[in-house]
Amino acid sequence: MIYHAGNIVINIAPDMAAFNKDGARSIMDQINKKPDSVVGFATGGTPVGVYKELAELNKSGRVDFRSVTSFNLDEYYPIKRDNPQSYYRFMAENLFDHVNIQPHKVNIPNGEAADVEEECASYERKIKAAGYLDFQVLGIGSNGHIGFNEPGGKFQGATHLVTLKESTVKDNARFFGDPSDVPRNAITMGIKTIMSAKKILLLATGSVKAKVIKEALFGDITPEVPASVLQLHTNLIALLDTEAAAEIMPILEGLS
Ligand code: F6R
Repeated sequence: MIYHAGNIVINIAPDMAAFNKDGARSIMDQINKKPDSVVGFATGGTPVGVYKELAELNKSGRVDFRSVTSFNLDEYYPIKRDNPQSYYRFMAENLFDHVNIQPHKVNIPNGEAADVEEECASYERKIKAAGYLDFQVLGIGSNGHIGFNEPGGKFQGATHLVTLKESTVKDNARFFGDPSDVPRNAITMGIKTIMSAKKILLLATGSVKAKVIKEALFGDITPEVPASVLQLHTNLIALLDTEAAAEIMPILEGLS
């Protein structure tokens, strides 16, 4: 079911199969429209099924990644590339090893960089040199973060080093054997970098996201809820499952 709330298109998928298909189709449509698209990718639990579907679409010849340039949103710091929890490994396992993207066109912040400030600056320079993002895939943290832009940060930043909030370390501990193994820092595209994308696909699933989705899409625009800045974007699709949409349903039903 599609709703229009101001600038925002909200697509509520009835089940995970539809969620994954619709998410993959949005990315496919972008690449088919502009084969040399610059696409920003997110990691985390939410996009895994979308990427699986996208790999299928690539395998069946419906979308071609040959000319695509990718930039990932973020990476833990410090982290070795071969750490099973690095976003470098995540992207290889969940998408890049399964599609015909050219390795030299894949960009992920380097969690092994000796000079992290220079890594952030050079990552931002590369995004700029590529003409900024045509399309950005986003997840949302239960605390409202996008990328690793945590609550209370700036709305204007470029790629930078952040200290993760305890709530994020706790949320992401599920992927690591031991919470103390979760890196405390990360390199992330800034809000300004993210907002430069011509189109944004925000993905959220599960009841754990219901409250923050309401705050992000219909609450005050405040750095305390970084994702609320997305209300200012002119080309945003929020793809939600019914659980993540639960708290906004009364608002959406009032709109139609
Ligand atoms: C990941 C990222 C994060 C996640 C968010 C949601 O690259 O930037 O903002 O999108 O933490 O994570 P999941 O999907 O695991 O709930």
